[in-house]
Amino acid sequence: MSLKISKTPGELRSARWFASEDLRGFGHRSRLMQMGYDAGDWAGKPLIGILSTWSDLNPCHAHFKHRVEDVKRGVLQAGGFPVEMPALALSENFMKPTTMLYRNLLAMETEEQIRAHPVDGVVLMGGCDKTTPGLIMGALSAGVPMIYLPAGPMLRGNYAGQHLGSGSDAWKYWDERRAGTISDKEWIGIEAGIARSYGHCMTMGTASTMTAIADAMGLTLTGASSIPAPDANHIRMSAQTGRRIVEMVWEDLTPDRIVTPAAVRNAATVAMATGCSTNAVIHLLAMARRAGVALTLDDLDALGRTTPVIANIRPSGKIYLMEDFYYAGGLLALMSQIRERLDLDALTVSGEALGAALADAKIYNDDVIRPLSNPIYPEGSLAVLKGNLAPDGAVIKPAACDPRFHVHQGPALVFDSYPDMKAAVEDETLDVTPDHVMVLRNAGPLGGPGMPEWGMLPMPKALLKQGHRDMLRLSDARMSGTSYGACVLHVAPEAHVGGPLALLRNGDIVRIDIPNRRLDMLVDEVELIQRRAAWMKPADRFGRGYGWMYASHVSQADKGCDFDYLLPEFGPAAGEPDI
Ligand code: FES
Ligand code: MG
Repeated sequence: MSLKISKTPGELRSARWFASEDLRGFGHRSRLMQMGYDAGDWAGKPLIGILSTWSDLNPCHAHFKHRVEDVKRGVLQAGGFPVEMPALALSENFMKPTTMLYRNLLAMETEEQIRAHPVDGVVLMGGCDKTTPGLIMGALSAGVPMIYLPAGPMLRGNYAGQHLGSGSDAWKYWDERRAGTISDKEWIGIEAGIARSYGHCMTMGTASTMTAIADAMGLTLTGASSIPAPDANHIRMSAQTGRRIVEMVWEDLTPDRIVTPAAVRNAATVAMATGCSTNAVIHLLAMARRAGVALTLDDLDALGRTTPVIANIRPSGKIYLMEDFYYAGGLLALMSQIRERLDLDALTVSGEALGAALADAKIYNDDVIRPLSNPIYPEGSLAVLKGNLAPDGAVIKPAACDPRFHVHQGPALVFDSYPDMKAAVEDETLDVTPDHVMVLRNAGPLGGPGMPEWGMLPMPKALLKQGHRDMLRLSDARMSGTSYGACVLHVAPEAHVGGPLALLRNGDIVRIDIPNRRLDMLVDEVELIQRRAAWMKPADRFGRGYGWMYASHVSQADKGCDFDYLLPEFGPAAGEPDI
């Protein structure tokens, strides 16, 4: 590829810090020299910020300490000046109440780190669920050239000859344990085998979905998202990413040229074909809005109706995991399989059109990446429901639920809090039938707070013991992308702000009709008006601090849960800082 140089060294953003012969320039240079650098390191060279979401509490990114060095190697080879800039690690495993509360904090940190520092281009290192949208949202707002470096999926889990999938198999075997079919010893073996290398979750959960979205949007070296974290190809990809970002700075290849309506549509289409996490909906809406691209829940539903799921990866698929996906050809192969549905002219960070990267893509296992004539599910993985329970929408993954719940009605069993629900499902005498619709409310963006992944409500023990493994569940929460079951999620507006979900009572009949995209409670209008008049707004969750700011500015799920003041239409961005 030939470099399309459109910038001179004097025009580098970092030159404002380092090239001026005034007292400020002296100060900046002397402080670089304090670290042992000299003009040979910085003069006339693009300064590349490597935003790494490494932390000892994020096992998905444990290899980033080393990968940063590989990125630096690439940056140096290409004549850049690499600097590591740590950013909030958003560990899905350990952060409470939920990383979703903090996604926007990472986005703000990313944007302001870039704006405030002498950065010409950035490599964004993430992978664990919220890090992908958080980093990308912030970098889109900052606007300097950027490449996303996906952490890569961890190896397949392994126990007693079985391949274990992140999340999915934890839920599955937990239900078996609660039903009494798994011994202590087996349970400990599963605990030790389900996550056995660094890298993000290796089901098609939120992490794999979001890195695939970043890839399809043109923000990674094309196909990079499928490389398993421990594979030597991942190391090579890291160095290539370092080399490429330096070229991107000289080419002035800014993200607004990459994240166009066509790129967003490509990303959403690919997400549907992968059998994506429901969380993708919220993050896609948020990322698109940061880029000034109009995208709505209805657009995603329309894509969902027409895009078959062809990635046979758990939890939508039955057998395979991300490692199998990579060996089958990975995202390049999947994208080439649906190339007629993609805009192949969309530009990627490589500086070339997406179509060029797909030219040689091959499928090596067509049970893992299915032909369009043999999808694992004929429609896309997501459906958006609306009705008097969710006027602004709710989301379900039809492919992941028992088809008998696609059209269903049953009496509501309503819980106002997670602890109440958790206690009730353990009660073997709970009065519940397989037709009941279990409801959890006050678990949305404000009520949760942070919209925790509580949406795959645990099956009541009373039903598990009778052999049931699925029932219709409904909430204003999210669910982990590795979850499955008949779970209606993201009900908007949420109960905490007075959405109609707040008016539902035990025994009311809830009706779902996925083919017609409806979600209703069969309660008459006059009764609902009376209930609304009696509804009392719950107390605010936060009296100060970040949580207070979050609660004052976060949008509902159908808008992407971003802060209002971070959207481009809120006001003009700050210009370059005075130096
Ligand atoms: Fe990090 Fe699943 S916990 S990706
Ligand atoms: Mg997850």
